[in-house]
Formats: sequence, structure tokens, C-alpha cells
Amino acid sequence: MGPHLLRSAPAVAAAVVVLAAVLAAPAAAQAGDSDAPAYRNHTVGGADGWVFDAKTNATSGNYSSWAAGETFYLGDYLIFKTNDNSSVVQTKNATAYSLCDASEDDSSDIYGGGGAGGPGPKQALTVAVPLTEEGTNYFFSNGDDGAQCQQGMRFEIKVEHGRGLPPSLKNPPPAPKERVLAPPPAGTAFSGTGGVEPGDGEADRTGGDKAAAAAAAGGRFLGVAVGAALAILVAA
Ligand SMILES: *[C@@H]1O[C@H](CO)[C@@H](O)[C@H](O)[C@H]1NC(C)=O
Ligand SMILES: *[C@@H]1O[C@H](CO)[C@@H](O)[C@H](O)[C@H]1NC(C)=O
Ligand SMILES: *[C@@H]1O[C@H](CO)[C@@H](O)[C@H](O)[C@H]1NC(C)=O
Ligand SMILES: *[C@@H]1O[C@H](CO)[C@@H](O)[C@H](O)[C@H]1NC(C)=O
Ligand SMILES: *[C@@H]1O[C@H](CO)[C@@H](O)[C@H](O)[C@H]1NC(C)=O
Repeated sequence: MGPHLLRSAPAVAAAVVVLAAVLAAPAAAQAGDSDAPAYRNHTVGGADGWVFDAKTNATSGNYSSWAAGETFYLGDYLIFKTNDNSSVVQTKNATAYSLCDASEDDSSDIYGGGGAGGPGPKQALTVAVPLTEEGTNYFFSNGDDGAQCQQGMRFEIKVEHGRGLPPSLKNPPPAPKERVLAPPPAGTAFSGTGGVEPGDGEADRTGGDKAAAAAAAGGRFLGVAVGAALAILVAA
């Protein structure tokens, strides 16, 4: 018994090392994530807000210079302090952004009003837009048929990974799509295109499936590794 124990000590040590490494791995990954900055909300334009003044033909803030001073991460929100005379279009489509026109961009999400109102007091609105896609994201108002955007009511940002999406945003509900539909020509059936559509649900579901697959693969790896370590212990 004694000599056997002595002989097997290296094997036991090896098994313990394998077990320790396997069990420590998820903790180490978590520690890495928490080094990234905490989720933040960014008020667009700061105190200037996201407002267009039709009288002066100007925006309340300088959004490109505001954005240049901020760092954005997945899971952060942009908070637009605005009114129902402007909107918020979020897209990854650089062409739609440069044209100030979301009408042909099915990938855009549109929040808030649309400049359809006439003169008179405007209803204040706060619009919270979650950042769910890494890389360049574009924002503009399509109020007043793009004129607000042409006058500077637009900006682009680069979204970094940071901590990644929090669970609450991994499978977000479809983003609101408020598209104004032209009435179909008389006598034609409504095709249904261009109406209310789910936001990025498809992409998010794909991401979810990938994450689930990765988690399952990780689980299998853990099982195999623990099994191998136990086998070494039993053999010892
Ligand atoms: C950011 O805004 C969202 C949406 O309004 C809210 O749910 C969340 O609690 C806010 N987070 C912080 C850190 O203020
Ligand atoms: C606003 O300014 C732009 C560019 O200076 C000009 O083209 C446009 O006609 C102006 N709009 C109004 C309503 O004054
Ligand atoms: C991007 O926007 C342009 C111009 O609005 C449009 O023609 C194109 O189809 C859009 N691309 C996507 C992928 O929606
Ligand atoms: C709202 O937008 C319309 C169209 O651009 C404009 O005529 C009107 O003056 C705006 N109202 C305010 C209060 O800015
Ligand atoms: C915003 O500020 C930058 C530099 O500070 C300037 O170049 C740009 O023209 C400004 N944009 C607007 C719409 O005023």
C-alpha cells in the first residue's frame, strides 16, 4: 500500500493539476471580463440634447464633436433627449447614413417621431437606444425628410466589445420600426413589405445559437477533462 501510494503520487499530482486548471478556467475568464469598463449610458450631445430648431435651421448640439469625446461599448445605451419633431435612426448602413435616408435601408431601427409635426409646442421624448452591435454604428434624425440630418443631426460611433452584451440584451425584443407607409395603389393588395418588421431578431438569434453551441462545447470539454482527471486518480 505504502510503496504503491508513493509510486502513484506523481499521477495524483497530475490529476490535481488538471482538475485545478479546469475548475479555475471559467473564473479566470470572468475576471478578464470584469476588467472592462462597467456599462454606461451616454446622453447624446450632453446637456444640449437631440433637438432641431426649425427657426434657426440648426441642431441644439454638435454631435460629431460630442461623440469624439466618448468611448462606447456593447451593452451601453445612448439616451436621446429629444421631442416628437425629430427621430433617431440607428443603422450600420453607411450609404443610408450619408444620404440621410433610411427609406431603402431595411436594416435600420427607427425610434421616436419624424418631423411630421407643424409649428407649435413639441412633446418631449426620451429615447434609449441599446448598443448591441460592435463596430461602426450610425445615427441620424430622418425628421423633415432628411433636412435635419443634412444640417448636422447625425453622428457615427465605434462600438467596442468591452464586457460584451449583458444577458438582458442578448435576445432583445424586436426594436420598434416606425415606417410611414405610402398607401398602396388602388386595387392592389398590400404586399406587407416595408411595414413593421422585427429588428435584429434574426441576427440575435443566430448569435444566441452560437453562444449556446459554444456553451455546450465548453460543457463537453469540462466533462471530458474532469473524466480524464478522475480516471488518472482511480488508476493511481
Ligand atoms: C441605462 O438606460 C437603460 C434604458 O433606459 C436603463 O434600463 C438602465 O438602467 C440604464 N443604466 C444605467 C447604468 O444608468
Ligand atoms: C437650412 O440651411 C440649409 C444649408 O445652409 C439650406 O439649404 C436650407 O434651405 C435651410 N433651410 C431652411 C428652412 O432655412
Ligand atoms: C443601404 O442603404 C442603401 C441606400 O438607402 C440601400 O440602397 C441599400 O439597400 C441598403 N443596404 C441594406 C443592406 O439595407
Ligand atoms: C417641426 O418640424 C416641422 C417640419 O420640419 C417644422 O416646420 C416645425 O417648425 C418644427 N417645429 C419645431 C417646434 O421645431
Ligand atoms: C462641430 O464641431 C467641429 C469641430 O469642433 C466642426 O468642424 C463642425 O463643423 C461642427 N459641426 C456642426 C454641425 O456645427
